[in-house]
Amino acid sequence: MDVRGLSVAFQSKRAASKSGVESNSTVASSEGAFAVRDLSFTIARGKVLGLVGESGSGKSVTSLALMRLLPYQARVSGEIIFAGGNGGPDSLLELPDENMRLLRGSRIAMIFQEPMTALNPVMRVGDQIAEAILAHDQVSKSEAWQRAVEGMKDVAIPDAERRARDYPHQLSGGMRQRVMIAMAIVNRPELLIADEPTTALDVTIQAQILDLLADLRAKFRLAMLFISHDLAVVSQVADRVAVMYAGSLVELASKRDLFQAPAHPYTRGLLRAVPTLHTDRARPLQTIEGTVPSAQTALPGCPFEPRCGDRIPECALELPPLVEVSPGHWARCPVVNRSVRLPVGV
Ligand SMILES: Nc1ncnc2c1ncn2[C@@H]1O[C@H](COP(=O)(O)OP(=O)(O)O)[C@@H](O)[C@H]1O
Ligand SMILES: [Mg+2]
Repeated sequence: MDVRGLSVAFQSKRAASKSGVESNSTVASSEGAFAVRDLSFTIARGKVLGLVGESGSGKSVTSLALMRLLPYQARVSGEIIFAGGNGGPDSLLELPDENMRLLRGSRIAMIFQEPMTALNPVMRVGDQIAEAILAHDQVSKSEAWQRAVEGMKDVAIPDAERRARDYPHQLSGGMRQRVMIAMAIVNRPELLIADEPTTALDVTIQAQILDLLADLRAKFRLAMLFISHDLAVVSQVADRVAVMYAGSLVELASKRDLFQAPAHPYTRGLLRAVPTLHTDRARPLQTIEGTVPSAQTALPGCPFEPRCGDRIPECALELPPLVEVSPGHWARCPVVNRSVRLPVGV
């Protein structure tokens, strides 16, 4: 998956009526608010990119844009290239709806935060997984059922034959999330998008689901976009980490570089705010002053500028470019580039 300059704006109703255009128009509006702004990243086969950012930073909008599942009011621009093993490369934003529908749930699959709302409460879980198979493969119902049970074994659900006959409410939260994962992987996707897959679970179950995802990644050479607001959770599964702030990608690095040498002032602030075993309990934790700007306040410059202790006048003028501060380590900050003084690789 190769994402280049992805932006998503939601046209506000006010802007739509003011300019006298239909609400489904794709005409650009100066009042449309950017939920995601100029996002670029790649995910290779078998690799996990962690996408981290606080609530409202644009993580879910990004994942829905990749799947082309955003509501029609969303204006999406940029490029999303998907070059899987079984065909492609495809430019997803240009693909006809029908081709996109075939790709969704087969080559690219997605799991969501809350399995109880994503599952059908009045259908046996085995039938729901079988339905996902039948949507893409012309096999008999009994074969689909058999493959559904195999899928439940793949996600380590004990006694899968019997459990397949259960309804969602008969399963625990962790088991329901396993069913969701089974449904996502039964068609052997090349890319799995997991949007906060463990946020609704308690910590021990969360750890088991993270282990399961790591196993599946290795077993099926899955590429994965793993989204979480929790840096600690991301650090357990990701190879590379992308940090989002108010719709912009502010830093992208290997997990090791990000934790050992964070470059962007926002990332550094986040890491300082996390307590560790060595934290002095007598002193309050460091926090980042101020609040996150809302998506409606369209700042021309760096979105973190109003809260940034390292800001310089040019930060408020325009969105700084992503520059490579060391090989494979990118940050959207002009100040860090000055202090680090490495050759810029763009
Ligand atoms: N359908 C929509 N219409 C207008 N704004 C939206 C819509 N969906 C999301 N947004 C806005 O986009 C921003 C990012 O949301 P989201 O991607 O859900 O954040 P998160 O990082 O918590 O997943 C938020 O400001 C949200 O209000
Ligand atoms: Mg979200």
